[in-house]
Amino acid sequence: MSIQSNNNSRNGAGSTVGQNNDIYNIVLLIVDIVILVFKFWLTIIEETVKLFTTRPQANVSGQFVLITGAGHGMGKEMALQYAGIGAKVICWDINDQTNSQTVKEIKQAGGTAYGYVCNVVKREDIMELASRIRKEHGFVSVVVNNAGIMPCHPLLEHTEQETRLMYDINVLAHYWIIQAFLPDMIERNEGSIVALSSCAGLFGLANLVPYCGTKFAVRGYMAALAEELRQKNPQTNIKLTTIYPYMIDTGLCKNPRYRFPNAMKLISPKDAAASIIEAQRQGLEEAAIPRHFVAVEKLGRLIPRKAMRLVNDFLDTGVDTDKM
Ligand SMILES: NC(=O)c1ccc[n+]([C@@H]2O[C@H](COP(=O)([O-])OP(=O)(O)OC[C@H]3O[C@@H](n4cnc5c(N)ncnc54)[C@H](O)[C@@H]3O)[C@@H](O)[C@H]2O)c1
Repeated sequence: MSIQSNNNSRNGAGSTVGQNNDIYNIVLLIVDIVILVFKFWLTIIEETVKLFTTRPQANVSGQFVLITGAGHGMGKEMALQYAGIGAKVICWDINDQTNSQTVKEIKQAGGTAYGYVCNVVKREDIMELASRIRKEHGFVSVVVNNAGIMPCHPLLEHTEQETRLMYDINVLAHYWIIQAFLPDMIERNEGSIVALSSCAGLFGLANLVPYCGTKFAVRGYMAALAEELRQKNPQTNIKLTTIYPYMIDTGLCKNPRYRFPNAMKLISPKDAAASIIEAQRQGLEEAAIPRHFVAVEKLGRLIPRKAMRLVNDFLDTGVDTDKM
């Protein structure tokens, strides 16, 4: 009898402790929710204000900036412009001749540049070159994954070889280069990685099925990497910037098509490069060229696809096959 009453009182004490724990956990949850709601709206206000203010740009003078595909197009323009604001530019390209020409032009203008031939599909070459650069120059502050190719025709006409090569250059090479340079950035908790996606990474476009796949992949892995870095270190100072250019006048887009050439004409590589450098220096996570395309894509997702297709048909803008 006495043993039973002891158990009863012990059970009673246990359930009181359990109830106190429950109340404590509920209070904690409510506090968490209040903090979340407060911070959520504060961040929305802060980010909205930032949209209408000029963001400060990080100084890259004296820092090493590595650009892939520096021999032509936007890569070349970025190399020239980064050098123009005092960065020491490391130019990578598969094409020795055009890459050397970029380096020469930078040096002639009084800048600092180093050229390396690199086929970015070769992981071993990337790793070897990265450790050579580390020894010769030290820390690389900014890495721009720019080199890319864009075969443009219907999916059924894409060969296996060109499709695989496109993924190798436009996506896998980015992983190898990040694996080569990110560890130093993590160690120093600084640095910046820029990846060239495309408007073809925001919208699905005819004749560009595999290309769109590669550019959506860039968008996806950059978002995932940002999350990985943030979870590893909530105070991370490593900036990731994904760029979504519209059609740029580099020759990559062989048969552009538009109904309103004045409103939607090709953008000059000079202007595109300036826009990319500004986005990197401002530490933007995403930047389209022109900037409002990211907002258009977000808005487009809220609208039924059928309605968006009416707008697409009206604008009639895209790329025709390069096999014409
Ligand atoms: N031009 C556009 O309309 C446009 C639009 C959106 C996105 N983009 C993207 O921007 C980036 C640059 O485009 P661009 O128009 O300046 O290109 P581009 O063709 O003018 O220049 C690309 C450079 O990359 C180099 N390259 C190609 N394969 C390589 C490899 N395996 N290893 C090393 N270097 C290699 C080329 O030699 C060339 O110098 C690409 O990723 C492209 O997909 C371009």
